[in-house]
Amino acid sequence: MAKGIAAKRLLMTGQVRCPVAIGAALIAVGMLRSGPAVPQNAAGTPPATLQETGLYTDQDRLQVDPAHLAFAPQYPLWSDGAAKRRWISLPPGTAIDGSNPEAWVFPVGTRFWKEFSFNGQRVETRYLERKPDGQWLYAAYAWSADGRDAQLVSARGKRGAYPLAGGRSHTIPGVTDCKACHQGGPSEVLGFGTLQLSPERDPDAPHAELQPEPHVDLGYLVDNGLLVGLPKALLDAPPRIAAATATERAALGYMHGNCGHCHNERGSLQNIGLFLRHSVTNAGEPAAMSTIKQAVKKQAPGQSPDAVLRVEPGYPDRSGVMQRISSRYPALQMPPLGTELIDDEAVRLLNRWIAEKGASIRQASANQGR
Ligand code: HEC
Ligand code: HEC
Repeated sequence: MAKGIAAKRLLMTGQVRCPVAIGAALIAVGMLRSGPAVPQNAAGTPPATLQETGLYTDQDRLQVDPAHLAFAPQYPLWSDGAAKRRWISLPPGTAIDGSNPEAWVFPVGTRFWKEFSFNGQRVETRYLERKPDGQWLYAAYAWSADGRDAQLVSARGKRGAYPLAGGRSHTIPGVTDCKACHQGGPSEVLGFGTLQLSPERDPDAPHAELQPEPHVDLGYLVDNGLLVGLPKALLDAPPRIAAATATERAALGYMHGNCGHCHNERGSLQNIGLFLRHSVTNAGEPAAMSTIKQAVKKQAPGQSPDAVLRVEPGYPDRSGVMQRISSRYPALQMPPLGTELIDDEAVRLLNRWIAEKGASIRQASANQGR
């Protein structure tokens, strides 16, 4: 995964010296593959139109099949201000196995949709489907300008799908990018899990979304027989991020939802030692422990040299994490994929968190000296 991102950055930052070698690297990671649609495993190719995925019962009126469940994770992903709607469909009579609360197992035939709109206009709908061999199928459908139907996007994705501020535009990710985010941790499904659907929703989560009817959360799923095996302790005491303050809770939650799918104990980036994914089974908050007063491992090109620590309490400007999320320079920006515009709300939140962290540490040492 890191390979794909590195190759892309070379392209974007214009540091390309040897086109042949880069070309080979890109082909190796599947980015330049041409030909029909999504490069699929033996399990098959995605349908050519969104309609064929079964999202709507009535395509003309865009009536979503009432059997699908709408849901909203408590810590959504920032996608340059896109409004999102999401649905899950489980095959009749099946249930999700939640016995590993870090990585639910979804029945074969499970389908997920995620719709992206800008300024009230549908732009793309992403699709995941669990195939009989257990693999997930990845696809994106681009909406026609008249908003009537949506066609499968090539596996390479689609640039210029919708104009954004500052001359930038929304890119529909290619399948390699889908997988860079979705295959980096314990579960390929990122927004439908134990923490994201906890009934103890964080009221301060950046870009918090209203839960659509029927308010799908852990209790709803268990009560309706759609989730089995989830340890009872997690129902009795629903998971929430343990934090000293509401600001800290929201900051760590933001990083769980926007960073934890790449930065976790499992993925290919584990050697960086930056663990931004919340674990519902382990005590402690890895996102706090692996950032606060922890040294930056590797200065990124364009990063200011005063960023010695990932989070330096009291000094947001000098903190590596802040410099990364406040940038959209390709070699520096975090997240590296899926966003063209800085998430100002998140920047303000993390700024406040790091500033307050400094104040509380000063307060604690003043109290000790007394
Ligand atoms: C930058 C990382 C990133 C990229 C790239 C990405 N996703 Fe996701 N995706 C997420 C995260 C995080 C969530 C859960 C949070 C949310 O929905 O706001 C998610 C949610 C989803 C969902 C709802 C089910 C779930 O996992 O929660 C679908 C469907 C989906 N993505 C499909 C795709 C497809 C298909 C692509 C490529 C065309 C793609 N995604 C690219 C990060 C990414
Ligand atoms: C698609 C995967 C992906 C996502 C999502 C992602 N990162 Fe990264 N991150 C990387 C890669 C790859 C590197 C190493 C390359 C580099 O340094 O740019 C990295 C490096 C970093 C570093 C440098 C660590 C060090 O000590 O040297 C920080 C800090 C960081 N990321 C923070 C974040 C934050 C905060 C988020 C969420 C807002 C985030 N990342 C989201 C892939 C990702």
